[in-house]
Amino acid sequence: MITCSAPAKVYLFGEHAVVYNESAICCAVNIRTRVNIEYSENIVINSSLGTTGIDYEIHPYVSAVVEKIRKKSPYRGVSISIESDIPVGSGLGSSAAVVVATICAFNNLLKLGMDKESIASFGHSIEKEIQGAASATDTYVSTMGGTVAIPARQHLKNPLCNLIIGNTNVFSSTGQLVAKVASLKSIYPEVITPILSTIGKASLRGESLLENEDYRSLGELMNVNQGLLEAIGVGCDELSRLIHSSRTAGALGAKITGAGGGGCMVALAENENIDAISREIKNAGGIPIVTGVTDSGVRVD
Ligand code: MEV
Repeated sequence: MITCSAPAKVYLFGEHAVVYNESAICCAVNIRTRVNIEYSENIVINSSLGTTGIDYEIHPYVSAVVEKIRKKSPYRGVSISIESDIPVGSGLGSSAAVVVATICAFNNLLKLGMDKESIASFGHSIEKEIQGAASATDTYVSTMGGTVAIPARQHLKNPLCNLIIGNTNVFSSTGQLVAKVASLKSIYPEVITPILSTIGKASLRGESLLENEDYRSLGELMNVNQGLLEAIGVGCDELSRLIHSSRTAGALGAKITGAGGGGCMVALAENENIDAISREIKNAGGIPIVTGVTDSGVRVD
């Protein structure tokens, strides 16, 4: 049996703007999905969603990986079992993590000889096939780990701070939110384009703030980024409550992470404020997850 795992991700800066080739900063965080694989008579996929064979309704991402790999490198059957600490559909990259962990598991079981670049790009092709459109960011960061400047794919210094995620538990569709921003941009290009470009500039400035370990300014600019995300219409009441409660409880900065409209927010926090921020996220109706950046991308466990 082989077990591989891959991490979730958060955006410190730049979601939505990155769709228009602006800069973003993304971190792999220490919340993981684990995939166990072993040879079997037929195909079995087991997760908290149920036990199936190839099934695009219940296990679309894993089914797509199973079929694609079988075409390249035929095998009789495998039993795959998935356990995940990453909330699904919440902007933390749960689908990217399951895809890259499954590819990595096959890579080791069948000795396919794929390097990390190939795992990331194969993972991206699976996400595109299932979702229709997907940026390569989630699969890249989940594969490589660390703190990454996008689109340059340059590794940055990890923030030596805690990241506290607040999950609203409100489902949001990335596709719909990306379409909403596109529509706003096509109606008011002269207004929306500069906002997206300002998000990109905040992200570029964030790169040097990370380098200088200036987390007070980094948090301040994350708050600016949040204001700009509100301006392009991807906020919601539930997220605002968690973001403002975190700031009141001492977060250095707090903003949406991912597509918005629900899903998660992320707060940058020093050790002494972890408990207060977690408590306030809970009081404001969210589920707190205290985490930090991990350099460990996809790996064999
Ligand atoms: C979603 O996690 C991030 C977005 O920028 C979409 C994308 O980059 O594909 C909103």
